[in-house]
Amino acid sequence: MRILVTGGAGFIGSAVCRRLVLQTGAAVINIDKLTYAANLASLASIEQLETYAFLQSDICHRAAMDLAFADYEPDAIIHLAAESHVDRSINGPDAFVNTNVVGTYTLLETARAYYERLPASRRKHFRFIHVSTDEVYGSLGPDDLFREDTPYRPSSPYSASKAAADHLALAWFRTYGLPVIVSNCSNNYGPYQFPEKLIPLTILNAIDRKPLPVYGDGRNIRDWLHVDDHAAGLIRLLHEGRPGEKYNFGGDAQRSNLEVVTRICDVVDRLSPGAGCRRSLITFVPDRPGHDARYAIDASKAHRELGWKPIRTFEHGLFETVGWYLKNRAWWERARSGVYDGSRLGLLAAQN
Ligand SMILES: NC(=O)c1ccc[n+]([C@@H]2O[C@H](COP(=O)([O-])OP(=O)(O)OC[C@H]3O[C@@H](n4cnc5c(N)ncnc54)[C@H](O)[C@@H]3O)[C@@H](O)[C@H]2O)c1
Repeated sequence: MRILVTGGAGFIGSAVCRRLVLQTGAAVINIDKLTYAANLASLASIEQLETYAFLQSDICHRAAMDLAFADYEPDAIIHLAAESHVDRSINGPDAFVNTNVVGTYTLLETARAYYERLPASRRKHFRFIHVSTDEVYGSLGPDDLFREDTPYRPSSPYSASKAAADHLALAWFRTYGLPVIVSNCSNNYGPYQFPEKLIPLTILNAIDRKPLPVYGDGRNIRDWLHVDDHAAGLIRLLHEGRPGEKYNFGGDAQRSNLEVVTRICDVVDRLSPGAGCRRSLITFVPDRPGHDARYAIDASKAHRELGWKPIRTFEHGLFETVGWYLKNRAWWERARSGVYDGSRLGLLAAQN
């Protein structure tokens, strides 16, 4: 298969590209604009292979997308390109509306024009996988779970822009018959994640013995899924998913932010021992505006219909992830020294 991946120089996209090329034998073209969040070093293991190609381009650019589809003739698209950091969406929603909404619309239109020209034999198998988040559903009470039919109630500019894109994607199935499948996944963690998100930021600060910021009282709960389990799920979706459907992915690993940070302190202490216990570095900071209290996923549809289940426990995956950041300083030092120094983002003027 020839798969067009968007956002393949980012965290999840690079895991999808590596897995497709190295484990499934598929050929991949990765289209990425290379924003601050991208790192081509994440693709070092496949960049020399003939089955991998890279195109630096913006998904909002229709003519460039038309050309890429015509040149590459993909059998499927896995669309991951996005602005993805909630805190940045609070300070600057513009790029989120452009890439997440307009960019997704542009790709849907490009794919529709391409799909309509395909012969019937190729159209039958063509898929457009739109990768989204559980954050579109909003915040949960203490006991319930997000299901695929949970109404959308996004809280942040990021999740609202993803929600808009999900609606567009499913409308392109209902109106034009484009074989779109939407995935809504919980928080990912693992190697190659840009160090602005909770887990890598905490690991790097813990390694460097810097303060470990926890928003509010630290009781907000997220469900955590290892990025390689997510990538495996997206590839199952390509083959087993039903067009026009949504699928939730989650790790069945609900943890409060404070539990996650505490656990990272203990693992870093164990793998990189030295003076003092890292838990003493935990610092409570003002909460994120509109911070959702709890996310939890019912992934039973993906288990049942795709035959997919995560293979890592959170504790094992986190241990491996800390080990990876300790061994791969060169990968994250560039981002840390040049692009993002770890400072607080996402506060409103009144909170500064
Ligand atoms: N990280 C998570 O926990 C998580 C969870 C569920 C869903 N998602 C979704 O998965 C996808 C990937 O997330 P991620 O964490 O890997 O993001 P990321 O920020 O690490 O990577 C995003 C990539 O998209 C590229 N990009 C951004 N704007 C672009 C544009 N206009 N044109 C082309 N490329 C562009 C960036 O250069 C970057 O390489 C996103 O759609 C996100 O909403 C993420």
